[in-house]
Amino acid sequence: MTHYRAVGNIPPKRHTQHRDAGGALLYEELMGEQGFSAESSLLYHRRLPAAIVASRPWELPDTTATANHPLLPRHLLLHDLFPGEEWKSADVVTGRRMVLGNGDVRISYVAAGETSPYYSNAASDECVFVEAGSAIVETPFGALEVSQGDYVILPRGTTHRWVCAGEEPLRAYCIEANSHIAPPKRHLSSTGQHLETAPYCERDLRAPMQPLLCEGEDVEVYVKHRAAAAGSGAPSILGSVVTRASHPFDVVGWDGCLYPYALNVADFEPLTGRVHQPPPVHQAFEGDGFVVCNFVPRKVDYHPLSIPAPYYHSNVDSDEVIFYCAGNYGARKGSGIGPGSVSLHPAGHTHGPQPGAYEGSIGVERVDELAVMVDTFRPLGLGAAGAGCEDANYAWSWSHGR
Ligand SMILES: [Fe+2]
Repeated sequence: MTHYRAVGNIPPKRHTQHRDAGGALLYEELMGEQGFSAESSLLYHRRLPAAIVASRPWELPDTTATANHPLLPRHLLLHDLFPGEEWKSADVVTGRRMVLGNGDVRISYVAAGETSPYYSNAASDECVFVEAGSAIVETPFGALEVSQGDYVILPRGTTHRWVCAGEEPLRAYCIEANSHIAPPKRHLSSTGQHLETAPYCERDLRAPMQPLLCEGEDVEVYVKHRAAAAGSGAPSILGSVVTRASHPFDVVGWDGCLYPYALNVADFEPLTGRVHQPPPVHQAFEGDGFVVCNFVPRKVDYHPLSIPAPYYHSNVDSDEVIFYCAGNYGARKGSGIGPGSVSLHPAGHTHGPQPGAYEGSIGVERVDELAVMVDTFRPLGLGAAGAGCEDANYAWSWSHGR
């Protein structure tokens, strides 16, 4: 849920005549969730937003997932997926490669240097975390300048493209959900305002500020969309390239509560305590069947007998995925994990700090780690890219020296 914004040129009353300076009638589009019964925005187009002139299949990359069997904790080295200068010819949309997924959520990774095609994910809300680099995300609502540490939330069906300068790789960790992605409900009032106890609030959210007013004809939009499920419980997703007769960013103004926005992880205020605080205090977003948390640089526990490293834990109802973005992750010392790593600690495996890290954390007053965690409530399988960048020694890293 986001709060109300109004940008650009809109009429004083909804669903009434709105004309440009020359007297031409503008076309109102409602973009809304749950039919007409939840958050929505009204956008005013210069040309008919429904006019399309062609459609052809878009062959999507492989999104099948292999079961984590036999059961193992896993370590994936995402930076190995784009060696050398491979990033220069990749874009955020067509270049992303799935590393983990289940029927609720798919996690992909890309290092990109090219501007993406116009793209709309009609199957998923997307939460794209920018690990490194910068880009401009253009949308019908306007543009968002995004850079390292930004979560970019793109509601389902938001046509957009990632504009990359190509001077450095844009490293993006892409979370695609079959549900909507929103701040945790417990951080919001009954009408959606971020509470005093929330780790971030409306002032920290950046949204497009002015319309792009693009003009153009025959604009191809790459669309991911749902198809009839094949009985697996996971909706199958298909791709199409739909040619729109006019530019999708021809909007002169919009208002409402549904729009893309960004939150930088540096604006997330961590909660600390006398003793170790569990991951839920670090939660940033949620969707059906998963949560997104982040571990940011912070002062840690100040009880005189505290152990700042996490205690060992068995998450009996979830698989836990941590993407290590920056800093020194003390609890994983000696495991080979560093920036660009992903750990998968599945249900059924008790996990915690590597040998020596638990004791070694005593007396530590501050950590400089930066990591993004996705906990899923259904088991995750490995995508082809995930299986292809695995450090197979990780599973035994707690047993070294026995
Ligand atoms: Fe954990």
